[in-house]
Amino acid sequence: MKNKIALGLKVLALALTLSACSSGGNDQVKIGFVVKQPEEPWFQDEWKYAEQAAKEKGFTLVKIGAPDGGQVLTAIDNLKSQHAQGFVICTPDVKLGPSIVAKAKADGLKLMTVDDRLVDGSGNPIESVPHMGISATKIGEQVGQAIADEMKKRGWNPEETGALRISYDQLPTAKDRTDGAIAALTAAGFPTANIINAPEAKTDTENAFNAANIAITQNPKYKHWVAFGLNDEAVLGAVRAAEGRGFRAADMIGVGIGGSKSALNEFAKGEATGFFGSVLISPKRHGYETSVNMYEWIKNGKAPPPLTLTTGQLITKENSADVRKEMGL
Ligand code: GLA
Repeated sequence: MKNKIALGLKVLALALTLSACSSGGNDQVKIGFVVKQPEEPWFQDEWKYAEQAAKEKGFTLVKIGAPDGGQVLTAIDNLKSQHAQGFVICTPDVKLGPSIVAKAKADGLKLMTVDDRLVDGSGNPIESVPHMGISATKIGEQVGQAIADEMKKRGWNPEETGALRISYDQLPTAKDRTDGAIAALTAAGFPTANIINAPEAKTDTENAFNAANIAITQNPKYKHWVAFGLNDEAVLGAVRAAEGRGFRAADMIGVGIGGSKSALNEFAKGEATGFFGSVLISPKRHGYETSVNMYEWIKNGKAPPPLTLTTGQLITKENSADVRKEMGL
């Protein structure tokens, strides 16, 4: 009997050793994925694809929402105490750049950014931190071109049309996106004087709504409106504000950036919408690829490419399902 128990214990001990050994491989890799706006569908999608990478590669993913600077620094300490080896972050404020870099270094964590690139004290990008973002200017131009094309199709007179630039200029990628849209619009003959700057206090629909509402009220002379901004939320806010002032689908052309749930829900509505389209970007690349990059860095010492800029494609109510399928979303 005693022998049997001893043997049983030995077997158990061996099993435990074996399982500890196998988790000594990939299981030990732990990666944080910190985002500034966890309630936004774009970031939920990024997390979803990061989870997919974690499952495939066998590492642990720690998802943290950090809407302000204090929470970012706490998140980094938190990751260190959980024995993570690195993290991917979309920061709530790019000016936190030097503090984030210093904190990650002090905590011995590898650092990569996604979407919003860190800047230094002079406002220049911190190039030593690997980054994946969208080709902001180019995608902005696609937005402007789509608006110009649709205006032409509807036969609108540009002189009677106002353009809402929902802006958030403290974020370089946001400024590049809206500047790109303006470049394409003006190249297509849109009058610069009709472009109204409507700054939003935060990059969500509610703040965009407020910004657009003020701009439309202050400019009663226009017959039609177009709108662009850094993301779908910005343009949806503008579309809602325009509706409230009597500019419905026939008098509004809004083109967003993102193409995730916010846009798809709008397309799925029965009635016509002033939200004409969106440039679809890839949360899969931004969530999956950055996580795999971080994993490879931790596991095999292979540093991520210093800078990756992803592309986009226009979707409208008509083709959104097909294009998303083509992009593997
Ligand atoms: C910024 C925006 C997000 C999304 C990403 C895409 O972070 O705030 O809404 O557009 O860029 O890179």
